Formats: sequence, C-alpha cells, structure tokens
Amino acid sequence: ATDPVKLMKQQVGKAAADLVKSGSIVGLGTGSTTAYAIQYIGERLKSGELKDIVGVPTSFQAEVLAKEYGIPLTTLDAINHIDIAIDGADEVDPQKNLIKGGGAAHTREKVVDYLADQFIVVVDAGKLVDRLGSVFAVPVEVIPMAVTPVMRAVTQLGGKPELRMGVKKAGPVITDQGNMVIDVKFDSIDDPVNLEKTLNNIPGVLENGIFVNCADLVLIGEVKDGQPVVR
Ligand code: A5P
Repeated sequence: ATDPVKLMKQQVGKAAADLVKSGSIVGLGTGSTTAYAIQYIGERLKSGELKDIVGVPTSFQAEVLAKEYGIPLTTLDAINHIDIAIDGADEVDPQKNLIKGGGAAHTREKVVDYLADQFIVVVDAGKLVDRLGSVFAVPVEVIPMAVTPVMRAVTQLGGKPELRMGVKKAGPVITDQGNMVIDVKFDSIDDPVNLEKTLNNIPGVLENGIFVNCADLVLIGEVKDGQPVVR
C-alpha cells in the first residue's frame, strides 16, 4: 500500500509546482515536501507546459534535485529578483509565521524566501501550531568557534540548547556553509518578532529559523478518508 503521508506531500508539492508560471525565477526550497515540488516543476518543463524557468536552490539538496529533474539554475549574483519561492516548514502559526531549519538549510532559505515576490509554504497539517515553538526547537546556525558562548547566551534567554548531531556521522551536523546548528527549545515563544532579532544579535550567530511576515500562501496537505487533499 502507498503511504498516505507520502501521497499527501506529493499532492501539496504538485499544487505548489502548478503555481509556477513560464518565464519565472523560482526559489527552490529544502526538505521532503519541496522535493516533490521540484520534481513536478521538472516534469512540467519536460512536457513543454512550462518554459524559460530558472531556479535558485536553497541548499545542496535542492541543487542536486534540480539538476536531476532538469531545472536550469542560477545564482543571486546573476538576477535582480525572484518571482516565486516554494519551501517547506517545521511549524506554521495562524499568522503564517514559521520555524524552519529542520534540514539545517534555514540561512540560505531565509535569503531566497524573503527575496521572492511570492513565497509559497508547503506543509502537512501536522506542522500547524497555535503558537511557534510548541513542538519544534528553533534552529540557530552558529560559526563553530562560538558554539559554547552561544549555548550559554541562549540559556540566559530561557532556551534549552542542544548541538545538532549527525545521524550517519560521528559529531555535529555541518551546514552547507560549514557551520554548526544549535537547536534551542523554548517553553513558549510569545514574541517571535523579537526573538528572531535577539537570537541574531548574539555574536557568532549567523541566522535562526524564525521567519516572520514572509510567507504569502500556505498550502496544507491532509489525509481525509484515506485520500490526500490540499487546502
Ligand atoms: C529545511 O531547513 C527546513 O526549513 C525544511 O523546509 C523543513 O524541514 C521541511 O521539511 P519537510 O518537508 O521534509 O518536512
């Protein structure tokens, strides 16, 4: 039997890919849901339904997938805007604020997603929360020599820090930029706007995974009566 969660991610990825228009510059996000969007954009290009697309990858993963599915790529030096960005998230609140960085790609994602005229978030219903930080910790990308003082500083802010460790690697996760990630769990985030700024003000922090006032549209995948649906 086909996994319903996988079907739902496929549906929501496809729904986002269908919003891409010919001639546009597309930000390509990171994660398992966005991977389907990248696949469908590639399929629409191949069938000729979509023309003159160029992608801006947010990670090594997005870059590899885009190449696999035949999407031409560019860099931010060669363009002056992004028309549409499609990206996943780890938590979404009712104001469309996000926590991202489950794939340790939030720094480049933030650059690309904020530059886009239209930023489409693709998630499953399990990512919806009333308040950010309810389930997920805030990923904070830190330059390696500053890991210990940053851990101390976030503890003083009331967070519980954990250096992200590799799954199939001994030692910490290393980002696409060669840095480390500290996941900081807060009991509740009352003011995401301020927490985003406060975390980024700690010396040694490159970027954190709180995205406020960035998402334009959230496509939510659900499984209803065994059938995947997008709302
Ligand atoms: C990557 O750093 C994250 O921001 C992802 O966008 C996020 O983890 C979503 O991934 P899934 O679609 O696999 O849940």
